[in-house]
Amino acid sequence: MSFAEHREKLYQTIAENTLVISYAGVPIHSNEDDYYDFAVNSQFFYLTGLERENTAFLAYKAAEKTQEFLFIEEPDPQSERWTGKMPTKEEVQQISGIRNVRYTNSLDAAISRFMGRFRVEQAYFDMYRCQMNDLPDYNLVMAERFRQAYPQVVLKDLHTACAPLRERKDAQEIARIRKAVDITRQGLEFVMKNLKPGMLEYQVQADFEYTCRRLGAKRQAFPTIAGSGINGCMMHYGTNHCEIRDGSLILLDLGAEYENYCSDITRTYPANGKFSPRQREIYELVLKANEAVAAAARPDITTKDLNDIACRVFGEGLVAMGMIQSVSEVGKYYMHSVSHPIGIDVHDITLAGDVLQPGWVISDEPGLYIDEEAIGIRIEDDLLITEDGCEVLSKDILKDPDAIEAFMA
Ligand code: GLY
Ligand code: MN
Ligand code: MN
Repeated sequence: MSFAEHREKLYQTIAENTLVISYAGVPIHSNEDDYYDFAVNSQFFYLTGLERENTAFLAYKAAEKTQEFLFIEEPDPQSERWTGKMPTKEEVQQISGIRNVRYTNSLDAAISRFMGRFRVEQAYFDMYRCQMNDLPDYNLVMAERFRQAYPQVVLKDLHTACAPLRERKDAQEIARIRKAVDITRQGLEFVMKNLKPGMLEYQVQADFEYTCRRLGAKRQAFPTIAGSGINGCMMHYGTNHCEIRDGSLILLDLGAEYENYCSDITRTYPANGKFSPRQREIYELVLKANEAVAAAARPDITTKDLNDIACRVFGEGLVAMGMIQSVSEVGKYYMHSVSHPIGIDVHDITLAGDVLQPGWVISDEPGLYIDEEAIGIRIEDDLLITEDGCEVLSKDILKDPDAIEAFMA
């Protein structure tokens, strides 16, 4: 499926007399003359395939047809001298399939023209907010500006509108995720070859990220987690500056991003290449939960159903080991949930309660975190939901403890 087909899916779900205005975003200033790495708005990318700052997409759906436009910065030799070639109209037409391409400085006039000449009743902007106290995203700022100018128009949320479309991945999206997973596999194999006690966690991170970059990943899907010993018990540990001790485990939660699609994998390795009997006992329980989730994943159930399965496996296992008295105490050692969608974003767009459908890609990531023994183990695979079950996209990334020991020997 192409990006034009993504837009077509959106147009089928929205009412007539509706504007869609989506901005790629602008670089965010950090300090002095420095800016954070630019991250394109995910809705904008999904609808256009473009990831260039200061670019915008405008569509107007009327009864007879939908008109669509792109607005890009006008190529400027002075900017190109400093920071490189800017996309041309022809290049963005080619990627997006949008024929009408104008320059960004004419966007406000174009919006005014639609407002003046057409009976615009609704306008979609991405109004997603992660945390109440976050600074507003660029799209939210633009939505507020529009609301002040045109208070009679009903504002709708493009993020919510895109959720059901983005949850179900098409063939091109799945191919990109497969490639991201395969780069991650190769990165982890390089890590396993080099891993030894005495290394620093960030050196393992560097081995992984070097491989990703070398194999064509422009960036990581999320900040690499390389937690050895007790650090593996922090779910989103990211400091990665401790020495990896002999006899400890290292939990690696990481992933390459390939052409804007994420992988999200966790493997836990013994630093010296051999699990202790106790580490192996816990590892095998985590693996059992991981395999139970993959065996159950199929259309028409929810990620909460999958989490209930992981909790049951953990609960029964921990009771049998005498670590808890009843299954209901599982939260003492398992504090997160087992699955989330993966796609353009690593924790990809979804609406609470949505049931799995063929084409969803989700994580399968049970973990146990035993502070008192400095044992943190998570095993995370990426699953593609199929018509009657799932395909484990990361099945070639070693997770059997004997296979890991044999590879590291
Ligand atoms: N890498 C973050 C997560 O597994 O959800
Ligand atoms: Mn992960
Ligand atoms: Mn995950």
